Amino acid sequence: MKILVINGPNINMLGIREKNIYGAETYEDLKALLEKTFAEKGVEGEIYQSNHEGDLVDRIQQAYFDGTEGIVINPAAYTHTSVAILDALKAVRPLPAVEVHISDVKEREDFRQISYAGKACVKTIMGRGLKGYVDAIAFLVENKV
Ligand code: DQA
Repeated sequence: MKILVINGPNINMLGIREKNIYGAETYEDLKALLEKTFAEKGVEGEIYQSNHEGDLVDRIQQAYFDGTEGIVINPAAYTHTSVAILDALKAVRPLPAVEVHISDVKEREDFRQISYAGKACVKTIMGRGLKGYVDAIAFLVENKV
C-alpha cells in the first residue's frame, strides 16, 4: 500500500513554534516517526510539506496519478480557510484521506472550529500529538478504505 503524508504551513516549524501547543518534537522527529511507522506497517510512504496552498493542491492532484492509495493530511491553518484543498481532496476521490491535527482544535479559538478539508476526509484525528499521524496510517492500512 502506498501512503502519502501531507503537511501544510508551519508544520516544518515543529519544535520551535508554540511548544506549549504543539510540543517540543521537531519536524525531523515527525519525519523519523513516519518512516518508522511506514516500515512497521509494511507500507510505501512518502512525506510532503509545503507552506503554499497551491503546492498542496498540486500534490493532492498528483496523488491520483502516482499510485497513492491513502492520504494523511494536516492542512494546518489552511484547514480553516481553504476551499481549494477541500475541492482537491474531492477531485481525487475515491482516494481516501484522513485529517490529522496535532492539537485538540475543538478546544481552541472559534476561527479554528470550521474544517473545510475535513468535509472530504473519511476520518479526523486531533489532540493526540504526533501519535495522531501513526493512528491515521494504521487506520488507512487496517480499513483499506
Ligand atoms: C493544526 C491546527 C491548526 O489550527 C493550526 O493552524 C496549525 C496546526 C494542528 O496540527 O493542531 O497550524 O493543524
